[in-house]
Amino acid sequence: MNSVGIDAVAIHAGKLRLDLAETFAPAKGEDPEKYTKGLGLHASSFPDVEEDIVTMGANAAHKLMTRKGLEPDDIGRIDVATESAFDNSKPVSTYIAGCLEAVFEGDFHHANKGERKFACISGTQSLDDAYNWIRAGRNRGRAALVIATDTALYARGDAGEATQGAGAVAMLIAEDPDLVELSLEQGFGSADETDFLKPNQQFPSVDGKRSVQVYLARMREALEDYESVAGDVRAEDFVYAPFHTPFPGMVRKAALLAYRHVTRDTEIEDSLAARIGRQPRAEAFDDEDAFFESVREYMDALKETEQYQEWYEQAIEPTLDIARHVGNWYTGSVHIARASALRNARENGIDMAGESLLVGSYGSGAQAEIHAETVRENWTEEIDALDIDDQLAARRDISFEEYEEIHDVHNHDKEIDIDAFTTPSEEFIRDGLGPMDERTYRYVE
Ligand code: COA
Repeated sequence: MNSVGIDAVAIHAGKLRLDLAETFAPAKGEDPEKYTKGLGLHASSFPDVEEDIVTMGANAAHKLMTRKGLEPDDIGRIDVATESAFDNSKPVSTYIAGCLEAVFEGDFHHANKGERKFACISGTQSLDDAYNWIRAGRNRGRAALVIATDTALYARGDAGEATQGAGAVAMLIAEDPDLVELSLEQGFGSADETDFLKPNQQFPSVDGKRSVQVYLARMREALEDYESVAGDVRAEDFVYAPFHTPFPGMVRKAALLAYRHVTRDTEIEDSLAARIGRQPRAEAFDDEDAFFESVREYMDALKETEQYQEWYEQAIEPTLDIARHVGNWYTGSVHIARASALRNARENGIDMAGESLLVGSYGSGAQAEIHAETVRENWTEEIDALDIDDQLAARRDISFEEYEEIHDVHNHDKEIDIDAFTTPSEEFIRDGLGPMDERTYRYVE
């Protein structure tokens, strides 16, 4: 069996931009640095009036299929991962297939379609499903289309409003892929948690501080589980570590823990010992609180070391470049982090062919998953084809009043009729409701 992984990727960002430091923070009476320094965010992308999870997903998939010269017959499976679905029965993948059939010759009648739900980790779970389907030999030579699409909006006034975003990532999963091969080994950390949920409601109920703790705990479990099958992970084993990025500050916390873990019992720990001591070991403490306090002190000191800062700048910071300007895309977030890292490698002339990524996905509720990816020979072509910079630059900036309007437009409980802020061109848009109240779409030339 050839290797299986991501053959191509295309991204569609919501077409509006809310500047968090200059527009949002002043309107909320907050210090802009809470966003730029604390959360690590400059802007959020928002869906325009005629955009939603279907149009963003279809636009990303359309771009991907056009670029790769694919027709519907080449696709045997369409999986959509989302936590922003507006229909409890009909999957988003059928709406997206309908959109694509309007512009491509042929149809997807023999493609298996579905929708995956497990908060933000369902994008990675859909990759898994596609991988397993191909490895099992059930794909009849066809590829799978995985689309992670979300409008990550929180109720007005909720703390989560600081970390909103909207966009879609489409990925083609195939044998002998051009971008990255997925490892057979993977590790999970999963537990029944209530850090973030939407019990039949559009906007999440979220315990933000708790979700940060749950993210860290599950991620650690997943890493240990991964190591139980793949062997110990060391800092030099991977060039980048793209992690789920609800906001870059979250990844900053995870990275410090990860670095402590991957340097334990290594020459790096030895070389740091003279300056900051050795890592505290639980067995050396009678009292759990004293152990945790000692770990906190070690981490504070570790954060200040040159070794850690250099590693962070090289392995983590580049994964956050796009997230800083678009906010949280839920299911798409870790897939943006991968693209961001590889784009950075391309810009800096780093030869990634054959090199590894350590990929950490997370979904509230809660589950983390860790796997490795090996970058393929043709990766540069795939990364050069990304048009994310142009998309981000073309976004329409919105004022705080316009933000309030657009939030209302996408609020299922409100009926607001306003004109779109941007003029659509060569893209799918929402154009109303059908006889059964289903959303309808069309392609604008
Ligand atoms: N300068 C620099 N840093 C500042 C600052 C300033 N003026 N003001 C605040 N900060 C820092 C805070 O210290 C904090 O960093 P820390 O966590 O390292 O201490 C960070 O900015 C955020 O500030 P905080 O007051 O905690 O923000 P908040 O109460 O608005 O909550 C979230 C932040 C992330 C919890 C909230 O936006 C949320 O609930 N988001 C949705 C859930 C989520 O994304 N969970 C993540 C796991 S999936």
